Amino acid sequence: MQNNIFSTLFVGQNFIKLTSVDSTNTYLKNLLAKSEPLPDGTVIMADEQFSGRGQLNNKWLAKPGENLTFSLYLKTGFVSADQQFFLNQIVSLSVYEALYPLLGAALKIKWPNDIYFKDKKIGGILIENNIQGSSLKSSIIGIGLNVNQSDFDAELAEKAGSIIQFLHKNVNVTTLMTDICQVLEKYYFQLKAFKLESISRSYDSHLYKKHELSMFEKDGELFVGEIIGVTTSGYLEIKTEEGIQQFAFKEVKFVSTDINQT
Ligand code: BTN
Repeated sequence: MQNNIFSTLFVGQNFIKLTSVDSTNTYLKNLLAKSEPLPDGTVIMADEQFSGRGQLNNKWLAKPGENLTFSLYLKTGFVSADQQFFLNQIVSLSVYEALYPLLGAALKIKWPNDIYFKDKKIGGILIENNIQGSSLKSSIIGIGLNVNQSDFDAELAEKAGSIIQFLHKNVNVTTLMTDICQVLEKYYFQLKAFKLESISRSYDSHLYKKHELSMFEKDGELFVGEIIGVTTSGYLEIKTEEGIQQFAFKEVKFVSTDINQT
């Protein structure tokens, strides 16, 4: 049975809308811990998160009522633990494809799964996998998008941006969410059919700063390199003076975005 707002087969067919919650990811986790098994594709959306979580234990700050914050529950038992990066790729691609008609070619996926417009982060993804043995069992996928928030606190303003800052008009957050879920369902079926090469090819083609010289930092040392792609395990491949090197998440970070070639 389809519900009113999602034209999907299963993603979002069990939909819970909250006014205020600590974090939609945490809410889903608690629900799973204490209730009957949840339907595959359950979606929790909140107008406000008062303790939103980001990657690397960072906070996710979003002004109430102006942004999109939601989480999805997916049964991902068919994904082996060493293929879990494909899940990151399909979620990034879903956000990318849902936003592309609004924002166009300056939209990029910054490895591993940030959503960038020009040089501003407009969205982030937090995936929490439940791994059992050598496979995933289920995944909680949290998506935060800066949508109708025009200004950010000083600590965020340099790096963060929002859709309204670029489009100069309000965007309906619920429509955005249903669009993302619809694309995600398409990619979920592709992942289930193990169309892995095609998923990686699409992800790679939208990578932020691909084939551009950029400055990176590893263990306090700066180096210049060119992103050439991402491995199937999710390592970033950078061409440096010393050859092609692979980096895990947390191991390397962008320092500046543009290096002028001389
Ligand atoms: C990042 O650090 O870039 C990831 C941010 C993920 C934020 C979303 S908002 C909905 C869901 N609930 C959370 O607490 N975090 C994720």
